[in-house]
Amino acid sequence: MKKLCLLSNKITKSIIPIFLIHIISCSSIDGEVSELVSSMTLEEKIGQMTQVDYRYLADKSDIKKYFLGSILSGGGSTPPTNQPSSWVDLYNGFQEEALKTRLKIPLIYGIDAVHGHNNVLGATMFPHNIGLGCMNDKALVQDIAAATAEEVKATGLDWTFAPCVAVAQDERWGRTYESYSEDSDIVTELGVASTIGFQGRTLNKNSVLACAKHFVGDGNTIFGTGTNWYKIDRGDVVLDEEELRSKYIKPFKESINMGVGSIMVSYNSWKGQKLHGHKYLINDVLKKELGFDGIVVSDWAGINELDKDYKTCIIQSINAGIDMNMVPGSLNPDDNSYDDFIRLAIESVKEGSIPMERIDDAVSRILRIKKKIGLFDSPIKKPKNTDVVGSKKHRELARKSVRKSLVLLKNENQILPLQKNNSKITLVGEHADNIGYQSGGWTIHWQGGSGDITPGTTILDAFKSAVSDSSNIRYSKDGGDLSNSDIIVAVIGEKPYSEGVGDRDSLHLSNEDIKLIEKVKRSKLPFVVILISGRPMIINEVLDESDAFLAAWLPGTEGLGISDVIFGDFDFTGKLSMTWPKSMKQIPINYGDSSYDPLFKFGFGLSYE
Ligand code: BGC
Ligand code: BGC
Repeated sequence: MKKLCLLSNKITKSIIPIFLIHIISCSSIDGEVSELVSSMTLEEKIGQMTQVDYRYLADKSDIKKYFLGSILSGGGSTPPTNQPSSWVDLYNGFQEEALKTRLKIPLIYGIDAVHGHNNVLGATMFPHNIGLGCMNDKALVQDIAAATAEEVKATGLDWTFAPCVAVAQDERWGRTYESYSEDSDIVTELGVASTIGFQGRTLNKNSVLACAKHFVGDGNTIFGTGTNWYKIDRGDVVLDEEELRSKYIKPFKESINMGVGSIMVSYNSWKGQKLHGHKYLINDVLKKELGFDGIVVSDWAGINELDKDYKTCIIQSINAGIDMNMVPGSLNPDDNSYDDFIRLAIESVKEGSIPMERIDDAVSRILRIKKKIGLFDSPIKKPKNTDVVGSKKHRELARKSVRKSLVLLKNENQILPLQKNNSKITLVGEHADNIGYQSGGWTIHWQGGSGDITPGTTILDAFKSAVSDSSNIRYSKDGGDLSNSDIIVAVIGEKPYSEGVGDRDSLHLSNEDIKLIEKVKRSKLPFVVILISGRPMIINEVLDESDAFLAAWLPGTEGLGISDVIFGDFDFTGKLSMTWPKSMKQIPINYGDSSYDPLFKFGFGLSYE
């Protein structure tokens, strides 16, 4: 087979068109996979369908014992020494266990590289998707994903749980920033661009497997229907099928056309029925109708919400079409773990509750992807190119994307651009000098963190390096000392959160921020506000009082992208990819609503010219 591939590679370069080679290699992969599947025991098959978070592996040898098909690192699931070479070692240690099994099927390792390779210390953290939506530049989004893929590969890993193609409608949702836009077309275009960046035009040995998530409707759940103590996350979608298809299934459909290799099922329900058990949507629509032939992976313990009885959850989810189950395990002995999943899944197949054809289909999909990305050829990774992680080149790309994601909402009396010479500028606010805050959730830790959690340039650092005399830039975190200033820059906003933990009733600015702004106002100096947030917030009074206001979203580690624009080296080009509400009463508000009178319309964004 290898010979055939080599031969076909040579011929490709000369005469045979690429699509033909693709067909030849796909059909040979299909043949190999079906041969392999027919030689597997039930235990080996169920093992393939099981994904465990590495933190919850009781022992490395369980990979061999249970024939585990996949390991993941959830948010913050990092090796004890969080450096690229330790990731490669971690990976290889697990892979060696997989290779000790009878059939030596390599495992596949997945991670949430959702704004850069964000669990890895020193990686480049790009702006979260909401900022990329305002940038709205397909080529750049593709470059960002390709750069992220390089960093992922340098740590040995195979698979990212990205892009998120949620079409967020309700700003109270804690995952709003994971969505590019409230507009399904922007989400579709950027989601597809990101998939190409991760995988290339077809899956191959240089690809990082992408995962379009979360199928489907996660951006449009009804407030108050959330599950797992959340208000909106994991809630219910009540749309009719036509709208579900035209706005929410659409990004998946186009991602499938572009060859996305995996799709993650969403925690939400549709008209009361949880997606993790939704045979119609997964099996009939996604797989049969849209022709998706990659891996359908569950979300984190997502099947557990189907029923009180775990075995029922397993039967329903596999029969609905889920191929790989992110179990993912737990340290709590009362929770279901991977051994429970495996035991009960085997039992269910033996007693006929899950047909063997369904298992064979799931395993074939998993093996096909493993073959396509070359895992069988080189399962053990070498720690090479680890210096691409957080490289200058990638940080420059991130800086550029920060510049293009900023949205200028107000600029009076031409206060912006700020002067680089002879102007005494005081920055205030905790967010001005805090890498953790400017990077948001999914940065080193699941919920993100505060301070120097990873190397980067804070907004304060960036201002200092932009001006001719850095002593003209001062910092008063609490706004207590504004003397000797010509102008104040208040950097305020949200503290990091992720998923339903960020669901909110109110998107008003915090009391701390309001008090800070009061102090700034008392100084009677002109002031600029930089808002760091995962979504539009209720800003009316502060907006009125400020001289200039810009939405910086969650820019990531490269604060220089902000100083580049604020000091006028570049112009503002970002446009709102989400409508900006006037009041909480207006939320959810989206363009196309029958009454639409927001503070700033979808598409709004000023520039210097
Ligand atoms: C999230 C997914 C994520 C997974 C693995 C889940 O809780 O919903 O987006 O990919 O965890 O970390
Ligand atoms: C993990 C996340 C995951 C979350 C789900 C966390 O412990 O690190 O990746 O998404 O749990 O609840």
